[in-house]
Amino acid sequence: MKGLILSGGKGTRLRPITYTSAKQLVPVANKPVLFYAVEYLVAAGIDEVGIVVGDTRAEVKAAVGDGSRFGARVTYVEQDQPLGLAHAVKTAYEQGFLGEERFVMLLGDNLIEGGIRNLVERFRSREMNCQVILKQVPDPQNFGVAVLEGDRAVRLVEKPREFLSDLALVGIYMFDQNVREAVYAIQPSWRGELEITDAIQYLLEHGYLVRPYVHQGWWFDTGKMEDLLDVNRYLLETQEQKLRGTLDDCSRVYGRVVLEPGAELVGSVVRGPAIIGERTRVVNSYVGPFTSIYHDCLVSNSEIEHSIVMENCCLSDLPHRLEDSLIGRNVELSLSPVKPKAFKMMLGDNSKVGLL
Ligand code: TTP
Repeated sequence: MKGLILSGGKGTRLRPITYTSAKQLVPVANKPVLFYAVEYLVAAGIDEVGIVVGDTRAEVKAAVGDGSRFGARVTYVEQDQPLGLAHAVKTAYEQGFLGEERFVMLLGDNLIEGGIRNLVERFRSREMNCQVILKQVPDPQNFGVAVLEGDRAVRLVEKPREFLSDLALVGIYMFDQNVREAVYAIQPSWRGELEITDAIQYLLEHGYLVRPYVHQGWWFDTGKMEDLLDVNRYLLETQEQKLRGTLDDCSRVYGRVVLEPGAELVGSVVRGPAIIGERTRVVNSYVGPFTSIYHDCLVSNSEIEHSIVMENCCLSDLPHRLEDSLIGRNVELSLSPVKPKAFKMMLGDNSKVGLL
């Protein structure tokens, strides 16, 4: 079996972060989201991995490389334009990554509790042409949903206006070679994309067997900031304390705190679950629960909680605690010493700032 991870797309819901970088490389619990997907596949015994890339191809390739450090062999599939999930599959066939074998398709911005090992095992051992992973949700009108009859899916509907089912499609799909016929046969939807739900609906209408699996644990699509903070929280909660950095006599750590190699605490308190990245310095500051601060940052005379800070940021002398925030790379946030006393900002397009 092969694995196909989709890491192209537009990422409009995560602007401005996605103007300059791939949303799949935003770190949660200090690991890029995309790395979890590669690890899920390897843990399920799948080491031949295709990654679909778009505008952010250079960055994704630089981060994942040939996959050897994950124990995988990675091939890149170049998608010219983000024309839909089924278009990404079609492109993988056209570029020869997919052939006659079965494959698992993962969205590169999705995370699932427990990985996919059991799901792959089930797909390998039972008769079916496609397996869809489903999760019960309170707001099915916002998802693609599946209608079931016993142990088979009979209908898929994208964002249903009337209630048909509350089982949403999670971004994990397993196919045999018959999906090729489907992705070539379907037409673009009203939004101009080749939809994977239409491809699966095609399979259903042509007599192929689509089996559902209802997932019980958590699952997140990290396409929005709130979801990134949520999944960061879940992942930090599962980590153990590991102090591989240094802390001086005046610093304290409480609970599930990870200090990565080279991290340094000076006169600071970190209350877990939290993670402080490599070479990041926290000076005279407080880092509260559910915070991930990535590599090469400086936090001084400041307080931060329930946030993700990406690499190479400098947060200093903040007059109030920073909370519920996602801070992109190379950001400087400080109290200005220059009069007049005012907020002074340079924000990218579509930035969101909440002031007191
Ligand atoms: P989405 O989150 O559905 O789409 P998007 O990335 O364009 O984001 P937004 O809705 O905020 O504009 O995509 C799910 C995953 O699939 C994500 O990792 C990007 C990837 N993808 C592709 O690789 N090719 C595509 O054509 C599309 C639409 C998505």
